[in-house]
Amino acid sequence: MEEIPPHLPVLLEESISQLLTDLNGIYLDSTIGFGGHAFAIMEKLTPAGKLIGLDLDPYALEYCQKRLSGIQGSYSLYNKNFREFPSLLQKLGINKLTGILFDLGSSSSQINTGHRGFSFQSDASLDMRFNPEAGISAKQYLNTTDADEIGETIYKYGEERNYRKIAHSICEAAKRGKMNTTFELKQAVESIVNPRFLNKSLARVFQAVRIKINDELEAIKQALTESSKWLKSGGRIAVISFHSLEDRIVKRFFRHNARSCVCPREYPVCVCDTIPT
Ligand SMILES: C[S@@+](CC[C@H](N)C(=O)[O-])C[C@H]1O[C@@H](n2cnc3c(N)ncnc32)[C@H](O)[C@@H]1O
Repeated sequence: MEEIPPHLPVLLEESISQLLTDLNGIYLDSTIGFGGHAFAIMEKLTPAGKLIGLDLDPYALEYCQKRLSGIQGSYSLYNKNFREFPSLLQKLGINKLTGILFDLGSSSSQINTGHRGFSFQSDASLDMRFNPEAGISAKQYLNTTDADEIGETIYKYGEERNYRKIAHSICEAAKRGKMNTTFELKQAVESIVNPRFLNKSLARVFQAVRIKINDELEAIKQALTESSKWLKSGGRIAVISFHSLEDRIVKRFFRHNARSCVCPREYPVCVCDTIPT
């Protein structure tokens, strides 16, 4: 019996059954995390099939490596941003994929492991990086950015209507040397928001800062744009999105790529010969 993993995969059957069109194929799990989807994929692939797994989170990859080591088959894992998958595939000499999976956002383990700084439920250093070895932490960002820009982040990625006041409260706290921990960020929000709406506002502000410092939405746009170029004919892309900002990007991508004509509206006849991907 497998131990209960730190993250339970969502939409497991739904995504895997749609993704796997050829059990001898090459698949990319671009957010392999704790390997929930990957394990199910590996169980189904034949020895000729192959899985490539990426994740920014080295802790998740370590767990995933152990989890998959007990299973027969060919797989390789990389501590990489999924926006870098084309250069990785080039290095590996792979030119087409049978399927690509994106299970977007954060894992429950990242949120529940207090010390990563993703959660307002436990006090920790304000980090929030999926890869704690790369990029700038939430603490660095909030201590070096002006209120207008922080406000824009909270509005754009958190859709929080008190964004201006919260941003000023964060900057005030930073000036006093009090913007280093999750609880200090929580206090800055608490000082502005009506207690009745506090939990929702906290979730929105923490989500916004996390999306900003991990550059999540740009990475999704970039990787999706590349993904259709790397898919073999008949291949599939499965995307599991969590919040409306991701969802919008994903739907727009599929809508655009499903179009059979991309000519400007004013053209009387189609000259583009676009084939939906
Ligand atoms: C919802 S979890 C995936 C869970 C996984 N499907 C499983 O079954 O365990 C999302 C994962 O995506 C990773 N992630 C987020 N953005 C990423 C990016 N740009 N490149 C690579 N991994 C990313 C996170 O570190 C997290 O482990």
